[in-house]
Amino acid sequence: MEQQHGQTGGTRSRSAVARRSLLGWGGAGVALGAVAAGGTATALHSSNASAASDGAATGQAVPFHGAHQAGIATAVPDRLHFAAFDVTTKDRAELVQLLKDWTAAAARMTAGEGVGEGAFGPIPESPPDDTGEAAGLKPSRLTLTIGFGPSLFDKGRFGLEERRPEALVELPAFPGDKLEKARSGGDLCVQACADDPQVAVHAIRNLARIGFGKAAIRWSQLGFGKTSSTTPDAQTPRNMFGFKDGTRNISGTDTEALGKHVWVSKKDGPEWLVGGSYLVARRIRMHIETWDRTSLKEQEDIFGRDKRTGAPVGKAKEHDEPFLKAMLPTSHVRLAHPDANDGIRILRRGYSFTDGTDGLGRLDAGLFFLAYQRDVRRGFIPIQRKLARNDALNEYIQHVGSALFAIPPGVRSKDDWWGRELFS
Ligand code: HEM
Repeated sequence: MEQQHGQTGGTRSRSAVARRSLLGWGGAGVALGAVAAGGTATALHSSNASAASDGAATGQAVPFHGAHQAGIATAVPDRLHFAAFDVTTKDRAELVQLLKDWTAAAARMTAGEGVGEGAFGPIPESPPDDTGEAAGLKPSRLTLTIGFGPSLFDKGRFGLEERRPEALVELPAFPGDKLEKARSGGDLCVQACADDPQVAVHAIRNLARIGFGKAAIRWSQLGFGKTSSTTPDAQTPRNMFGFKDGTRNISGTDTEALGKHVWVSKKDGPEWLVGGSYLVARRIRMHIETWDRTSLKEQEDIFGRDKRTGAPVGKAKEHDEPFLKAMLPTSHVRLAHPDANDGIRILRRGYSFTDGTDGLGRLDAGLFFLAYQRDVRRGFIPIQRKLARNDALNEYIQHVGSALFAIPPGVRSKDDWWGRELFS
């Protein structure tokens, strides 16, 4: 079928592909038109927002171009492949070229097309541009979101030390952390979300392949069963502890909350990051076997919510406003709620993971926590400080991987590329 991953097949079929498979085509058309006409960020933003409001897993494409990168406010598909990269080249021009090549490949893959000339040609004597395992698959709402880690800005590397955002700090050590170096940090990250795991894995694999000799994967994480959504009207997913997760998250269509808590503004700076965000990634191991021997009452006390309905303690429905004083002082929701944190909100977008067993017969399972925010010093850090000290949940979880990235704004048009604002 034409609207599926695979060979490029000429310009006519390519545009037909993009047209037919784009989610919210009307919105995207308006948005791209607005760019061509020097349109506003608001017009662009609405393209992402329209995708966000569409929670249905239709297998379609999410627009790649926009004021903000897709994969933040857009609807959360069910599968994840997240990769952190070390930049191995020392040459700034090579890094810039890599970012340009990645952007071109990302635009094609998110539209459901193969990289470059596709998987099956045209020169039999050379390896194909695309690795081929997504040929014939739908775009699957693939989003690819890039981020820049603190180490990219180190002195003596790419001349970016003056451009490092103040908020791109090293995350402090929190009580109880047991971070593995091999699962932490990274110069670059790419978050690939899709309805089909093969599409997400294909995307990361092909970016890694393009990066050969310039960037190497440092660590990566597969995820399933999104644990938070940006579409509150849809059914709230459950995490590996069996609780509804993401009930009180920022909605992808709540432009006011996104502006207040997620997007970096002109006032925040730096200029190159305006319209972007900060991403905290934490690999949190969940001790499933211990949890499974805990009484229902204790489980519910730990979160401060009913396991069946998701309702906060003392309330009838999932989306009823939590009454914090009815919860134990150590309950997760009471500690993480904005009323206990000077109004702070973060956009959670995590996934469950189960990476087999750990050699001791226990599931190596947990939450790959992903959270976007406008300033990590007024987002994840203060909330996690409080949780790490007091959360009853700590008996059942352990943070084992950690990374922080600055997320640049969206790629605005076909001539734009990931990181243009940073490197120009
Ligand atoms: C394995 C670890 C974790 C699990 C299983 C977990 C689970 C949950 C659950 C079940 C809820 C209630 C439903 C909801 O509103 O989403 C919740 C709420 C929340 N969690 Fe977590 N969480 C974990 C880690 C974290 C971390 C590390 C943070 C941030 C530092 C965090 C921040 C929040 C926030 C902000 C809320 C919403 C509170 C509210 O507004 O009522 N969580 N979490």
